[in-house]
Amino acid sequence: IQKVTKLNTGAIMPHIGLGTWKSQPGKVEHAVETALKNGYRHIDTATAYDNEKQVGEGIKASGVSRSEIFLTTKLNNNDHKDVLGALNKSLGLLGTEYVDLYLLHWPAPMTNDWKADKSLNWHDTWKKIEKVYREHPEKVKAIGVSNVSAAYLKDLLALPDVIVPAVNQVERHPSCLEEEVLAACEKAGIVITAYSPLGSDQSPLLKNDVVLRLAEKYNITPANVLVSFQVNTPNVNVLPKSVTPERIIGNLKVVDLTEEEIAELKGIDKANHFRACPPTWTGWGNLGFTD
Ligand code: A2P
Repeated sequence: IQKVTKLNTGAIMPHIGLGTWKSQPGKVEHAVETALKNGYRHIDTATAYDNEKQVGEGIKASGVSRSEIFLTTKLNNNDHKDVLGALNKSLGLLGTEYVDLYLLHWPAPMTNDWKADKSLNWHDTWKKIEKVYREHPEKVKAIGVSNVSAAYLKDLLALPDVIVPAVNQVERHPSCLEEEVLAACEKAGIVITAYSPLGSDQSPLLKNDVVLRLAEKYNITPANVLVSFQVNTPNVNVLPKSVTPERIIGNLKVVDLTEEEIAELKGIDKANHFRACPPTWTGWGNLGFTD
């Protein structure tokens, strides 16, 4: 039985979900099917990943009932003008009536040729997301944000009559701790979901000495150490990504790390800080992130 988190909507979100960033059509269908057939009940996708259709096919192929699955997708950066239209398109591709969570993917409106769209303000986008949530509860069960720094979150929470996001999905692993964002979200009752928990492709974390030592101690894989690191942190959910069946299944194994071991893993950030997905790619600068 997997641990779960309760969102500020009252909904239950399983602690570990399957990440699908970079999971290609042709592989992702089987990844999603394998995950669901082997105990996952939480799948994360996004319009930007260009795989919503195939994620939907994997869900169908698994035979697991939709009501048992926590499904997240995200508003793309070039869809800030028409939130309801974008959501409807996602639902059509996913082949589902609703998503459990709809996230603002980046607080960074962009044009169709992927330049910062300075004619738009992401605070207005959030208000449009709130409106869709209020008017279409049958389509969206909870709303949240992604890639929102502590500074940006402060501004968001100061908006008039704001609906507090249920989740903030950010990159997090021992080389990107996001302590400031974590503290701000916990205070506001917002669950953190960690993406790229292994450090994404070709990650040095899978060869890190501390990670390898703990893997040996607990007789688990380095990936299990990194997923356990998140699950052992209060208020944090985690999305390990894989398209490899044995890894998908294996990644669900978690252990209880000691406080000393968590502290040791946290020490990695000081010596080797990196982001798999730096916010500057959006053309909007560092989006309030300080490292
Ligand atoms: P693949 O999808 O080919 O199996 P992250 O979750 O941080 O985004 O990391 C995803 C990357 O880590 C992918 O390259 C994925 O490869 C790889 N990966 C996923 N699970 C494991 C594992 N248990 N051991 C080693 N690499 C893994």
